[in-house]
Amino acid sequence: MVTGGASGLGLATAERLAASGAHVTIMDLPTSEGAEQAERLGPLVHFAGVDVTDEDQVRAAFAHAGSIEPVRALVHCAGRGKPMRILDRDGAVTPLSSFTDIINLNVIGTFNILRFAAEQMARNELLDGDRGVCVLTASVAAYEGQIGQINYATAKAGVVGMTLPAARDLAKVAIRVCTIAPGTFATPLLTNNGRPDIVDALAASIPHPSRLGDPDEFAGLAEHIISNGMMNGETIRIDGAIRMAPR
Ligand SMILES: NC(=O)c1ccc[n+]([C@@H]2O[C@H](COP(=O)([O-])OP(=O)(O)OC[C@H]3O[C@@H](n4cnc5c(N)ncnc54)[C@H](O)[C@@H]3O)[C@@H](O)[C@H]2O)c1
Repeated sequence: MVTGGASGLGLATAERLAASGAHVTIMDLPTSEGAEQAERLGPLVHFAGVDVTDEDQVRAAFAHAGSIEPVRALVHCAGRGKPMRILDRDGAVTPLSSFTDIINLNVIGTFNILRFAAEQMARNELLDGDRGVCVLTASVAAYEGQIGQINYATAKAGVVGMTLPAARDLAKVAIRVCTIAPGTFATPLLTNNGRPDIVDALAASIPHPSRLGDPDEFAGLAEHIISNGMMNGETIRIDGAIRMAPR
């Protein structure tokens, strides 16, 4: 199950897992290009048009995926940020919804996906010691949130924070949970919204290699976590040693 699988890091993960012969369900918004991407990736790939924050939609999508093949791996990539400041230029507070919307998508959405994935995986037979593996997506903003990222940094810190307790909680049903904290990757989230000069400056600020990450490098780490039975309860940065500046 790859959420956010219609674009960027999720799409690269769906491509990599499908190429290795896995059945993949791309879970993404109905308005996304998930259906077209699933079609392109071949008969082992399906699309579920779902909002990850919606309980009923997510429950139904996992039940449907589980009726095709046991759900053994989750890579949860659906998420995004939206710039906000605590106070506006005039010193007035900004709308609370700018904060709650991003918490809802990134924290509540992640927990919603995690719990229905766990429900499906707990029914699986053991395979190489596991019933399932969940890979969540945070961000280096969880550690070095920039000015304008108060909502996003708080949300991604929430994903980092849930990783160890989730792994401890699900240990009794032999499900592993890890999180990837990406630095700056060349996905539509970054390259479509950012001005080319800003994207170039970002790339230059990465110590080594001084370039944006390739989404397939994220996918490779996700695939490794799935296959490495000792990886559990940890958040792994993949960032070329970048440490974000305040702005
Ligand atoms: N690209 C980066 O540099 C970077 C860095 C750090 C963290 N991240 C995180 O990685 C994840 C993937 O980002 P990306 O760069 O691939 O972005 P992207 O915009 O290319 O892809 C995100 C996908 O999530 C989907 N999505 C958004 N809200 C959804 C919802 N409510 N329900 C279902 N699907 C939803 C979108 O439709 C989209 O297809 C996000 O959580 C993002 O915060 C990305």
